[in-house]
Amino acid sequence: MDERLITPGVVDEEAQYEAGLRPRTLAEYIGQDRVRANLQVSIEAAVGRRESLDHVLVYGPPGLGKTTLAYVIGNEMGVPVRATAGPVIEKPGDLAAMLTNLQEHEVLFIDEIHRLAPAIEEILYPAMEDYELDIMIGSGPSARSVKVPLQKFTLIGATTRAGLLTAPLRARFGIVHRLDFYGDRDIETIVRRSARILGVEVDPAASAEIARRSRGTPRIANRLLRRVRDYAQVRADGHINAEVAAAAMELLEVDDHGFDEVDRKLLRTIIDKFSGGPVGVNSLAAAINEEKDAIEDIYEPFLIQAGFLDRTPRGRVATARAYEYFGLAVPRRDSTLW
Ligand code: ADE
Repeated sequence: MDERLITPGVVDEEAQYEAGLRPRTLAEYIGQDRVRANLQVSIEAAVGRRESLDHVLVYGPPGLGKTTLAYVIGNEMGVPVRATAGPVIEKPGDLAAMLTNLQEHEVLFIDEIHRLAPAIEEILYPAMEDYELDIMIGSGPSARSVKVPLQKFTLIGATTRAGLLTAPLRARFGIVHRLDFYGDRDIETIVRRSARILGVEVDPAASAEIARRSRGTPRIANRLLRRVRDYAQVRADGHINAEVAAAAMELLEVDDHGFDEVDRKLLRTIIDKFSGGPVGVNSLAAAINEEKDAIEDIYEPFLIQAGFLDRTPRGRVATARAYEYFGLAVPRRDSTLW
């Protein structure tokens, strides 16, 4: 269990492992150059003024480093990070307790902040804006509100879905950054750095191969690297060359584009069952037996950015590239859909 977590919850093995690979400073953080440059300015300015950093919202697809960035920010500010997540805060009192325990300039990190219950979210408004808790004491006509002052803290919120945040909450973040999928070169650099930390030798051609199949996502790159390392140890001499990397990923059924079984099923279902689309996300979720949220948060963003899927007002559409990927003839269709 990560001692920095202040709410109970299971930290899976992968998350713990991942923690050892995470960069701790902005200088170590690879990629997301604009976000890094902007944060560097904001942090240096706040430290120079001996103030708390303005509240930060980080959004983007899973696995791109939102949590990592929160810990990097805490480290650069020289303060501890207290971490929790939207769905695990059940009572307003839970959040109130976390807020009153924060020391000056400390960071409260709330992952999946779009999943905070409305009654809990409301506590954040005065806390973020005026560093104050508004607590109701009693009920009925004798109820009164008491204001409890808080230390000047920084809230870092992370979400995969900025669109699901309420307007009043979004408006209270002074610093807002979107994380994008990483380019292959950045992922390659991350793979080489992780290999160094894990103490495994990886040829340049192999790190390029792993990067190419990582969907622009460091978490996936690190996971693939560990699986390829297993394969190299068991089926080869431990050294990762391009051949070993390709064979390991073939065994994992991760193809050239980094697609897994769900990606292929999703595209193939749109093509076969829905004539290439458009199809609504609910019908698609039912057809492939996946959660609608998983499709929208995990699978779709990458397939859209890689050019295999289009999101139109009438639903999801498989693009010409998707047909070509499966070796199928691209159908002629109404041009308004493409
Ligand atoms: N590990 C995971 N994400 C990383 C990043 N952006 N830079 C360096 N190492 C990482």
